[in-house]
Amino acid sequence: MSIKNNINSIETAFKQALANAQDAQTLEEVRLKFLSRQGEIAGLMAALKDLSPEDKRDVGPLLNKLKQQAEEAFTQKKDALEIMRIQAEDAQRTAFDVTAYTPKRLTGHLHPYTQVIEQLENVFISMGYQITDGPELEDDYHNFQALNIPDTHPARDMQDTFWLTLPGKLMRTHVSSVQIRTMEQQQPPLAILATGRCFRNEATDASHDFVFMQAEGLLIDKNISMGNLLATLEAFFQAIFERKDLKIRTRPGYFPFVEPGVEVDMECPFCQHGCSVCKKTRWVEMGGAGLVHPNVLHYVGIDANQYTGFAFGMGLTRFVMLKYGINDIRLLNSGKLDFLRQF
Ligand code: DAH
Repeated sequence: MSIKNNINSIETAFKQALANAQDAQTLEEVRLKFLSRQGEIAGLMAALKDLSPEDKRDVGPLLNKLKQQAEEAFTQKKDALEIMRIQAEDAQRTAFDVTAYTPKRLTGHLHPYTQVIEQLENVFISMGYQITDGPELEDDYHNFQALNIPDTHPARDMQDTFWLTLPGKLMRTHVSSVQIRTMEQQQPPLAILATGRCFRNEATDASHDFVFMQAEGLLIDKNISMGNLLATLEAFFQAIFERKDLKIRTRPGYFPFVEPGVEVDMECPFCQHGCSVCKKTRWVEMGGAGLVHPNVLHYVGIDANQYTGFAFGMGLTRFVMLKYGINDIRLLNSGKLDFLRQF
Protein backbone atom coordinates (compact mmCIF):
# COMPACT_ATOMS: atom_id res chain seq x y z
CA MET A 1 0.00 0.00 0.00
CA SER A 2 1.50 3.22 -1.09
CA ILE A 3 0.48 5.18 1.97
CA LYS A 4 2.57 2.85 4.12
CA ASN A 5 5.54 3.49 1.87
CA ASN A 6 4.88 7.16 2.22
CA ILE A 7 4.88 6.87 5.99
CA ASN A 8 8.23 5.08 5.86
CA SER A 9 9.84 7.49 3.48
CA ILE A 10 8.53 10.54 5.35
CA GLU A 11 9.83 9.04 8.61
CA THR A 12 13.25 8.46 7.04
CA ALA A 13 13.31 11.94 5.52
CA PHE A 14 12.24 13.50 8.83
CA LYS A 15 14.93 11.67 10.80
CA GLN A 16 17.52 12.69 8.25
CA ALA A 17 16.45 16.34 8.27
CA LEU A 18 16.32 16.39 12.07
CA ALA A 19 19.82 14.91 12.30
CA ASN A 20 21.11 17.53 9.87
CA ALA A 21 19.54 20.51 11.65
CA GLN A 22 22.30 22.27 13.64
CA ASP A 23 20.69 25.56 14.48
CA ALA A 24 17.33 27.04 15.40
CA GLN A 25 16.61 28.22 11.90
CA THR A 26 17.05 24.87 10.10
CA LEU A 27 15.18 23.23 12.95
CA GLU A 28 12.27 25.58 12.29
CA GLU A 29 12.39 24.60 8.63
CA VAL A 30 12.15 20.93 9.65
CA ARG A 31 9.13 21.75 11.80
CA LEU A 32 7.40 23.61 8.98
CA LYS A 33 8.14 20.85 6.48
CA PHE A 34 7.03 17.90 8.60
CA LEU A 35 5.12 18.93 11.72
CA SER A 36 3.16 22.05 10.82
CA ARG A 37 -0.48 22.12 9.77
CA GLN A 38 0.57 22.14 6.12
CA GLY A 39 3.43 19.69 6.76
CA GLU A 40 4.04 16.21 5.41
CA ILE A 41 2.61 14.36 8.41
CA ALA A 42 -0.56 16.49 8.39
CA GLY A 43 -0.80 15.65 4.67
CA LEU A 44 -0.71 11.92 5.47
CA MET A 45 -3.39 12.44 8.13
CA ALA A 46 -5.56 14.19 5.54
CA ALA A 47 -5.09 11.32 3.10
CA LEU A 48 -6.32 8.92 5.76
CA LYS A 49 -9.93 9.90 5.30
CA ASP A 50 -9.99 8.60 1.70
CA LEU A 51 -9.01 5.12 2.83
CA SER A 52 -11.31 2.18 3.33
CA PRO A 53 -12.28 1.42 6.90
CA GLU A 54 -9.92 -1.61 7.03
CA ASP A 55 -7.02 0.40 5.73
CA LYS A 56 -7.81 3.15 8.17
CA ARG A 57 -7.61 0.66 11.02
CA ASP A 58 -4.36 -0.63 9.63
CA VAL A 59 -2.67 2.68 8.81
CA GLY A 60 -4.21 4.94 11.47
CA PRO A 61 -2.12 3.63 14.41
CA LEU A 62 1.06 3.74 12.30
CA LEU A 63 0.44 7.36 11.45
CA ASN A 64 -0.35 8.28 15.04
CA LYS A 65 2.84 6.60 16.16
CA LEU A 66 4.84 8.47 13.52
CA LYS A 67 3.29 11.77 14.56
CA GLN A 68 3.93 11.19 18.25
CA GLN A 69 7.50 9.97 17.80
CA ALA A 70 8.31 12.79 15.40
CA GLU A 71 7.06 15.38 17.85
CA GLU A 72 9.08 13.85 20.72
CA ALA A 73 12.21 13.62 18.60
CA PHE A 74 11.70 17.22 17.55
CA THR A 75 11.38 18.47 21.17
CA GLN A 76 14.48 16.55 22.22
CA LYS A 77 16.47 17.98 19.37
CA LYS A 78 15.24 21.47 20.14
CA ASP A 79 16.36 21.14 23.79
CA ALA A 80 19.71 19.71 22.76
CA LEU A 81 20.33 22.59 20.37
CA GLU A 82 19.40 25.13 23.05
CA ILE A 83 21.86 23.57 25.49
CA MET A 84 24.56 23.66 22.85
CA ARG A 85 23.80 27.30 22.13
CA ILE A 86 24.09 28.23 25.83
CA GLN A 87 27.32 26.30 26.18
CA ALA A 88 28.78 28.01 23.13
CA GLU A 89 27.75 31.39 24.53
CA ASP A 90 29.37 30.58 27.91
CA ALA A 91 32.57 29.56 26.21
CA GLN A 92 32.70 32.95 24.52
CA ARG A 93 32.62 34.80 27.84
CA THR A 94 35.84 35.57 29.64
CA ALA A 95 36.28 33.58 32.79
CA PHE A 96 35.29 35.36 36.01
CA ASP A 97 37.30 34.35 39.07
CA VAL A 98 35.14 34.82 42.14
CA THR A 99 38.14 34.24 44.42
CA ALA A 100 40.12 37.07 42.81
CA TYR A 101 41.68 39.66 45.15
CA THR A 102 40.03 43.04 45.13
CA PRO A 103 41.80 45.90 46.84
CA LYS A 104 40.11 46.95 50.09
CA ARG A 105 38.20 50.15 49.62
CA LEU A 106 39.67 53.08 51.51
CA THR A 107 37.17 54.82 53.74
CA GLY A 108 37.94 57.80 55.86
CA HIS A 109 37.25 58.09 59.57
CA LEU A 110 37.38 60.68 62.29
CA HIS A 111 40.69 61.80 63.76
CA PRO A 112 41.22 60.51 67.33
CA TYR A 113 40.91 64.13 68.51
CA THR A 114 37.49 64.46 66.91
CA GLN A 115 36.34 61.16 68.35
CA VAL A 116 37.32 62.17 71.88
CA ILE A 117 35.89 65.68 71.51
CA GLU A 118 32.55 64.25 70.42
CA GLN A 119 32.45 61.92 73.45
CA LEU A 120 33.38 64.76 75.75
CA GLU A 121 30.78 67.08 74.30
CA ASN A 122 28.11 64.40 74.58
CA VAL A 123 28.79 63.95 78.28
CA PHE A 124 28.59 67.69 78.95
CA ILE A 125 25.55 68.18 76.72
CA SER A 126 23.85 65.49 78.80
CA MET A 127 24.61 67.60 81.88
CA GLY A 128 22.98 70.64 80.26
CA TYR A 129 26.12 72.40 79.03
CA GLN A 130 26.28 74.48 75.91
CA ILE A 131 29.13 73.93 73.42
CA THR A 132 30.94 77.13 72.45
CA ASP A 133 34.16 78.15 70.82
CA GLY A 134 36.34 81.15 70.14
CA PRO A 135 39.17 82.27 67.86
CA GLU A 136 42.64 80.70 67.84
CA LEU A 137 44.12 84.10 66.98
CA GLU A 138 43.41 86.02 70.17
CA ASP A 139 44.20 89.36 71.72
CA ASP A 140 46.02 90.11 74.92
CA TYR A 141 42.83 91.13 76.67
CA HIS A 142 40.90 87.85 76.22
CA ASN A 143 43.88 85.57 76.64
CA PHE A 144 45.47 87.32 79.63
CA GLN A 145 44.09 90.60 80.93
CA ALA A 146 40.47 89.65 81.55
CA LEU A 147 41.64 86.35 83.03
CA ASN A 148 43.31 88.34 85.80
CA ILE A 149 46.76 88.10 84.25
CA PRO A 150 47.81 91.77 83.85
CA ASP A 151 50.90 92.95 81.97
CA THR A 152 53.20 92.78 84.89
CA HIS A 153 51.91 89.50 86.21
CA PRO A 154 54.59 86.84 86.56
CA ALA A 155 52.05 84.24 85.43
CA ARG A 156 52.64 85.43 81.87
CA ASP A 157 56.00 83.73 82.11
CA MET A 158 54.24 80.42 82.74
CA GLN A 159 53.10 80.39 79.14
CA ASP A 160 55.52 80.97 76.30
CA THR A 161 53.42 82.93 73.89
CA PHE A 162 53.54 83.17 70.11
CA TRP A 163 53.11 86.91 69.65
CA LEU A 164 52.09 88.07 66.21
CA THR A 165 53.56 91.10 64.45
CA LEU A 166 50.09 92.69 64.81
CA PRO A 167 50.14 94.71 68.05
CA GLY A 168 48.51 92.93 70.99
CA LYS A 169 47.67 89.82 68.94
CA LEU A 170 48.76 86.33 69.78
CA MET A 171 47.96 82.69 69.20
CA ARG A 172 45.84 81.72 72.21
CA THR A 173 47.86 79.90 74.85
CA HIS A 174 44.79 78.26 76.38
CA VAL A 175 41.05 77.93 75.68
CA SER A 176 40.27 79.83 78.88
CA SER A 177 39.87 82.86 76.59
CA VAL A 178 36.54 81.36 75.48
CA GLN A 179 35.28 81.86 79.06
CA ILE A 180 35.69 85.60 78.68
CA ARG A 181 34.16 85.74 75.21
CA THR A 182 31.11 83.78 76.39
CA MET A 183 30.56 85.84 79.54
CA GLU A 184 30.80 89.02 77.45
CA GLN A 185 27.91 87.74 75.33
CA GLN A 186 25.69 85.88 77.80
CA GLN A 187 24.29 86.59 81.23
CA PRO A 188 24.39 83.92 83.95
CA PRO A 189 23.26 81.31 84.70
CA LEU A 190 25.46 79.67 82.12
CA ALA A 191 27.35 76.44 81.62
CA ILE A 192 29.68 75.98 78.68
CA LEU A 193 32.26 73.62 77.29
CA ALA A 194 34.79 74.72 74.70
CA THR A 195 37.48 72.65 73.02
CA GLY A 196 40.18 73.76 70.65
CA ARG A 197 43.79 74.22 69.64
CA CYS A 198 46.24 76.16 71.77
CA PHE A 199 49.73 77.28 70.92
CA ARG A 200 52.88 77.68 72.98
CA ASN A 201 56.34 78.57 71.91
CA GLU A 202 58.10 75.48 73.20
CA ALA A 203 60.75 73.08 72.01
CA THR A 204 59.06 69.87 70.86
CA ASP A 205 59.73 66.35 72.04
CA ALA A 206 57.69 63.19 72.52
CA SER A 207 55.51 64.87 75.14
CA HIS A 208 55.58 68.54 74.05
CA ASP A 209 54.26 70.10 70.90
CA PHE A 210 53.82 73.78 70.13
CA VAL A 211 50.19 73.11 69.21
CA PHE A 212 47.90 70.97 71.37
CA MET A 213 44.26 70.59 72.32
CA GLN A 214 42.48 71.74 75.45
CA ALA A 215 38.97 71.56 76.85
CA GLU A 216 37.65 74.35 79.03
CA GLY A 217 34.51 74.30 81.13
CA LEU A 218 32.76 77.15 82.90
CA LEU A 219 29.64 77.31 85.04
CA ILE A 220 28.25 80.50 86.58
CA ASP A 221 25.20 80.59 88.81
CA LYS A 222 24.13 81.49 92.32
CA ASN A 223 25.67 79.55 95.24
CA ILE A 224 28.18 77.57 93.21
CA SER A 225 30.80 75.88 95.39
CA MET A 226 33.85 73.62 95.14
CA GLY A 227 31.42 70.76 95.84
CA ASN A 228 29.64 71.42 92.54
CA LEU A 229 32.96 71.51 90.70
CA LEU A 230 34.26 68.26 92.16
CA ALA A 231 30.97 66.42 91.60
CA THR A 232 30.90 67.60 87.98
CA LEU A 233 34.48 66.52 87.27
CA GLU A 234 34.02 63.15 88.94
CA ALA A 235 30.79 62.50 87.01
CA PHE A 236 32.55 63.49 83.81
CA PHE A 237 35.57 61.19 84.28
CA GLN A 238 33.31 58.33 85.31
CA ALA A 239 31.21 58.77 82.17
CA ILE A 240 34.08 59.10 79.75
CA PHE A 241 36.02 56.12 81.12
CA GLU A 242 32.80 54.18 81.80
CA ARG A 243 33.82 53.45 85.40
CA LYS A 244 31.30 54.29 88.12
CA ASP A 245 33.90 53.85 90.85
CA LEU A 246 36.57 56.15 89.41
CA LYS A 247 37.68 58.74 91.98
CA ILE A 248 39.32 62.12 91.64
CA ARG A 249 41.52 64.05 94.04
CA THR A 250 42.73 67.63 94.14
CA ARG A 251 45.91 69.35 95.20
CA PRO A 252 46.30 73.08 95.73
CA GLY A 253 47.18 74.79 92.45
CA TYR A 254 47.74 78.35 91.34
CA PHE A 255 45.97 79.83 88.33
CA PRO A 256 45.33 83.61 88.36
CA PHE A 257 41.73 83.28 87.15
CA VAL A 258 40.50 81.00 89.95
CA GLU A 259 40.52 81.22 93.73
CA PRO A 260 40.87 78.74 95.25
CA GLY A 261 42.64 76.88 92.48
CA VAL A 262 43.33 73.15 92.34
CA GLU A 263 45.17 70.62 90.27
CA VAL A 264 42.90 67.68 89.48
CA ASP A 265 44.10 64.10 89.43
CA MET A 266 42.06 61.10 88.37
CA GLU A 267 42.47 57.58 89.62
CA CYS A 268 44.38 55.66 86.93
CA PRO A 269 41.72 53.97 84.80
CA PHE A 270 44.24 51.46 83.42
CA CYS A 271 45.60 49.65 86.43
CA GLN A 272 45.00 48.41 89.99
CA HIS A 273 48.53 48.58 91.35
CA GLY A 274 50.42 51.12 89.24
CA CYS A 275 51.44 51.12 85.59
CA SER A 276 53.53 53.12 83.13
CA VAL A 277 50.67 55.55 82.42
CA CYS A 278 50.36 56.63 86.07
CA LYS A 279 54.07 56.10 86.66
CA LYS A 280 53.18 53.67 89.44
CA THR A 281 51.39 56.39 91.43
CA ARG A 282 47.79 55.20 90.68
CA TRP A 283 46.88 58.84 89.85
CA VAL A 284 46.96 60.72 86.57
CA GLU A 285 47.08 64.52 86.35
CA MET A 286 44.12 65.76 84.35
CA GLY A 287 44.18 69.54 84.56
CA GLY A 288 43.44 72.63 86.60
CA ALA A 289 40.24 73.98 88.09
CA GLY A 290 38.82 76.28 90.70
CA LEU A 291 36.23 78.87 91.60
CA VAL A 292 36.15 81.79 89.17
CA HIS A 293 38.14 84.73 90.56
CA PRO A 294 35.95 87.78 91.37
CA ASN A 295 38.30 89.94 89.25
CA VAL A 296 37.37 87.87 86.18
CA LEU A 297 33.68 88.42 86.87
CA HIS A 298 34.34 92.16 87.21
CA TYR A 299 36.03 92.29 83.82
CA VAL A 300 32.96 90.85 82.08
CA GLY A 301 30.48 92.81 84.15
CA ILE A 302 28.99 90.04 86.23
CA ASP A 303 28.10 90.92 89.82
CA ALA A 304 30.46 88.85 91.96
CA ASN A 305 28.30 89.39 95.04
CA GLN A 306 25.39 87.69 93.34
CA TYR A 307 27.11 85.04 91.25
CA THR A 308 29.89 82.54 91.70
CA GLY A 309 31.11 79.87 89.40
CA PHE A 310 33.70 77.25 88.66
CA ALA A 311 36.05 76.71 85.75
CA PHE A 312 38.21 73.81 84.71
CA GLY A 313 40.77 73.22 81.99
CA MET A 314 42.05 69.93 80.68
CA GLY A 315 44.72 68.90 78.26
CA LEU A 316 42.84 66.99 75.58
CA THR A 317 46.02 65.94 73.88
CA ARG A 318 47.08 64.15 77.02
CA PHE A 319 43.66 62.62 77.26
CA VAL A 320 43.76 61.26 73.71
CA MET A 321 47.28 59.91 74.23
CA LEU A 322 46.17 58.15 77.40
CA LYS A 323 43.07 56.73 75.83
CA TYR A 324 44.72 55.35 72.70
CA GLY A 325 48.15 54.58 74.16
CA ILE A 326 49.92 57.05 71.84
CA ASN A 327 53.49 57.56 72.96
CA ASP A 328 54.55 60.54 70.84
CA ILE A 329 52.49 63.73 70.84
CA ARG A 330 53.93 64.82 67.50
CA LEU A 331 52.15 61.97 65.70
CA LEU A 332 48.76 63.56 66.36
CA ASN A 333 49.29 66.50 64.03
CA SER A 334 51.66 64.72 61.68
CA GLY A 335 49.03 63.77 59.10
CA LYS A 336 50.80 60.41 58.78
CA LEU A 337 48.28 57.98 57.34
CA ASP A 338 50.00 54.89 58.72
CA PHE A 339 49.43 56.36 62.16
CA LEU A 340 45.90 57.68 61.59
CA ARG A 341 44.54 54.50 60.04
CA GLN A 342 44.95 52.69 63.37
CA PHE A 343 42.02 54.47 65.00
N1 DAH B 1 44.16 77.59 81.30
C1 DAH B 1 44.97 76.72 82.11
C2 DAH B 1 46.17 76.26 81.31
O1 DAH B 1 46.20 76.34 80.14
C3 DAH B 1 44.20 75.53 82.54
C4 DAH B 1 43.15 75.87 83.56
C5 DAH B 1 43.47 75.84 84.91
C6 DAH B 1 41.90 76.24 83.17
C7 DAH B 1 42.53 76.15 85.86
C8 DAH B 1 40.92 76.58 84.13
C9 DAH B 1 41.27 76.53 85.49
O2 DAH B 1 39.69 76.92 83.80
O3 DAH B 1 40.33 76.83 86.39
O4 DAH B 1 47.09 75.79 81.83
